Amino acid sequence: MPQDRQALRQHLRQQRRALSPEQQRQASQALAHTLINQSEIAQAKTIALYLANDGEPNLMPLIRLLWQQHKTLVLPVMDPSDPKQILFQRFAPDTAMVNNRYGIAEPAWTESEILHREQIELMLMPLVGFDEQGNRLGMGAGYYDRYLAGESPRPLLVGCAHEIQRLERLDREPWDIPLDAVVTPKRWLTVR
Ligand SMILES: Nc1ncnc2c1ncn2[C@@H]1O[C@H](COP(=O)(O)OP(=O)(O)OP(=O)(O)O)[C@@H](O)[C@H]1O
Ligand SMILES: [Mg+2]
Repeated sequence: MPQDRQALRQHLRQQRRALSPEQQRQASQALAHTLINQSEIAQAKTIALYLANDGEPNLMPLIRLLWQQHKTLVLPVMDPSDPKQILFQRFAPDTAMVNNRYGIAEPAWTESEILHREQIELMLMPLVGFDEQGNRLGMGAGYYDRYLAGESPRPLLVGCAHEIQRLERLDREPWDIPLDAVVTPKRWLTVR
């Protein structure tokens, strides 16, 4: 029987939002520690990440460490010429930010600061649910799947999650782009 993706999303998002501020703080520190010591991160010069929303793990402690290492960081921004698309724009300590239509902060639109997909070596992706085969359930808009569709080289895809977001098995739809690895506060899991 196919899974009810909407029901799964509701349940998992509720669990994620129910984590206490202390649990969130510990998760955030543990993720920063794991990721800053991970060879895939050390080797990547240009990294995409996200600003936490809806109980997602907060990457700000990691972001500060990566800035100290002079990494190029990019965040998703809504494409002003296509509401179904995201693009990735440079994010530096002095980048001016605005709230997008989801109330999430993003770099103020500056076309010259948009990077091509081929320039991004590693992408830390938010998710609602994952399994150990690298299947990913997102918020349901398909932004990441659309961004990553097609033939040109893809960054190394790393899902970023709390342990409670793990499912035994998640259906993969034809358009779903699977993860190469998943990181939680407890572990780094290479899928392929
Ligand atoms: N490459 C694509 N081209 C066109 N439509 C797509 C593509 N990828 C996904 N979609 C559409 O987006 C919708 C949502 O996809 P899906 O349920 O996989 O979202 P998600 O992976 O949970 O979200 P997100 O990627 O934003 O985190 C689907 O109905 C699908 O048809
Ligand atoms: Mg998907």
